[in-house]
Amino acid sequence: METKVQKIGVLTSGGDAPGMNAAIRSVVRTAIVNGLRVMGIKGGYQGLIDNDIEELTIRSVSGIIHRGGTVLNTARSNEFHTEEGQQKAIENIKAHEIDALVVIGGDGSFRGALDLTRKGIPCVGIPGTIDNDIACSEYTIGYDTAMNTAMEMVDKLRDTAQSHQRCSIVEVMGRKAGYIALNTGIACGATAILIPEFEVNLQRDVIERINQNKALGRRHFIVLVAEGVGLTKEIEILVKELTGIETRVTILGHVQRGGSPTLRDRVMASQMGHHAVTLLTKNEGGRVVAQQKGRLVDFDFEEALQMVKTIDQEQFDVAHDLSI
Ligand code: F6P
Repeated sequence: METKVQKIGVLTSGGDAPGMNAAIRSVVRTAIVNGLRVMGIKGGYQGLIDNDIEELTIRSVSGIIHRGGTVLNTARSNEFHTEEGQQKAIENIKAHEIDALVVIGGDGSFRGALDLTRKGIPCVGIPGTIDNDIACSEYTIGYDTAMNTAMEMVDKLRDTAQSHQRCSIVEVMGRKAGYIALNTGIACGATAILIPEFEVNLQRDVIERINQNKALGRRHFIVLVAEGVGLTKEIEILVKELTGIETRVTILGHVQRGGSPTLRDRVMASQMGHHAVTLLTKNEGGRVVAQQKGRLVDFDFEEALQMVKTIDQEQFDVAHDLSI
């Protein structure tokens, strides 16, 4: 960046996540405290194309830290993936004299931010998604709240599974990642946890585990399935046919994306928002804020998007060994 940043824009993009509001609040307040002006873009990248942009003040972000969703709204914009869409967005950015952007979202949103950065609009990304699937960061905003919501729901399902001596098969979100499923499964004492990162063998991982537990006197079962595994219906049929246990399927769905953010999400969002604006005040665009070994760091967009994240075998072993 050649000239000093004076006015920044902020947007949320992709699936919403609890804590996005806390991040918006942090971006706005850090910017204003540092003498910058802030424009809020409504509806993600589509809002840039549609010129849905207005100035935010300290007061516009009052009373939102505890609210789920995003006050800026969000979208998955197909138009922004086109050259024409990006040109319209850049024209509007220039018309509002916005020097740099903070983008709160997931990998898809960061790809858009990289495109804009390459076209001369420096962007900084903040990882916001319940899936925790951003490779460069140990943590993404919304993940803790989503897991706590899933845990609460599975606890309720356990009550009724226990009363009826049933098997409750619960599918949780996570796109292609199994973080929500694995941790919720451990926290709820699931009999089986299926995630896309580890090979799935339904006979070995579900039927045999249920039968082993049954032999030890257990009469109700929880099977946690990450949506990325994609076998929920098959599991239901197999469990019914091969164990004789009555089963019910619950797909938790979008309830996991809502609700008041947990303390962890509010604090992390506040810190990440602060870090993002600090980068821009130092004229350091083209970066993603991340958590590594518990500390806040930042990576170049391209480097961040090429990184790969894996689930620790030991964590998976914990789930396996305790589910008996
Ligand atoms: O990325 C967040 C997420 O909730 C995923 O877990 C899920 O696969 C997807 O978004 C659902 O997207 P939509 O809200 O567009 O249906």
